[in-house]
Amino acid sequence: MNKLVIALAVLLGASAAVATLAAASRNDLVQRGRYVVMIGGCNDCHTPGFALAAGKVPESQWLTGDELGWSGAWGTTYAPNLRLRFATMDLAAFKGYAHAFTARPPMPYWAVNAMSDADLEALYAFVQSLGPAGKEAPAALPPGVAPPGPVVQFPAPPPALAAH
Ligand code: HEC
Repeated sequence: MNKLVIALAVLLGASAAVATLAAASRNDLVQRGRYVVMIGGCNDCHTPGFALAAGKVPESQWLTGDELGWSGAWGTTYAPNLRLRFATMDLAAFKGYAHAFTARPPMPYWAVNAMSDADLEALYAFVQSLGPAGKEAPAALPPGVAPPGPVVQFPAPPPALAAH
């Protein structure tokens, strides 16, 4: 082997190693995002049947939204399809959005607002790795409109809370 060939071989070996490292760290990020989704309980509402199946729902269906409504003083809300929602945003837009958005009950948006940038990057990487799937969840209904499908009905808030 002449020196040029050796140099090329070394360079190619190095770039293959860098590519392997990048893939490994990408995979770490995706796995961390999976963990954030799991301990964040996001599947409980955003994945059809997840809570009732004790979490035994294939990952291919995770976060595809649900037709189960949540009814209360706010009307009726449906957990949206996050696979479709996140696909519309790049990482920077997603992080800005995730730190600031609010939503109606029972979405614990404060939990997402409080996530670190690192956790949000991981969450985003995981949802992107799943890819867009499923259809849009039903649109929310205003108070007083009867929902067509099954709902979880919340009682009216107790007077002490309602006064706030
Ligand atoms: C108790 C049920 C519940 C849990 C748990 C939950 N969500 Fe939600 N989420 C909802 C509902 C219902 C809505 C729709 C609220 C509305 O229409 O205002 C929603 C809305 C959202 C939205 C707004 C989507 C949009 O179109 O702008 C995001 C983002 C979101 N959830 C992310 C998450 C993440 C991430 C987790 C886990 C950390 C999570 N949710 C956990 C029920 C839940």
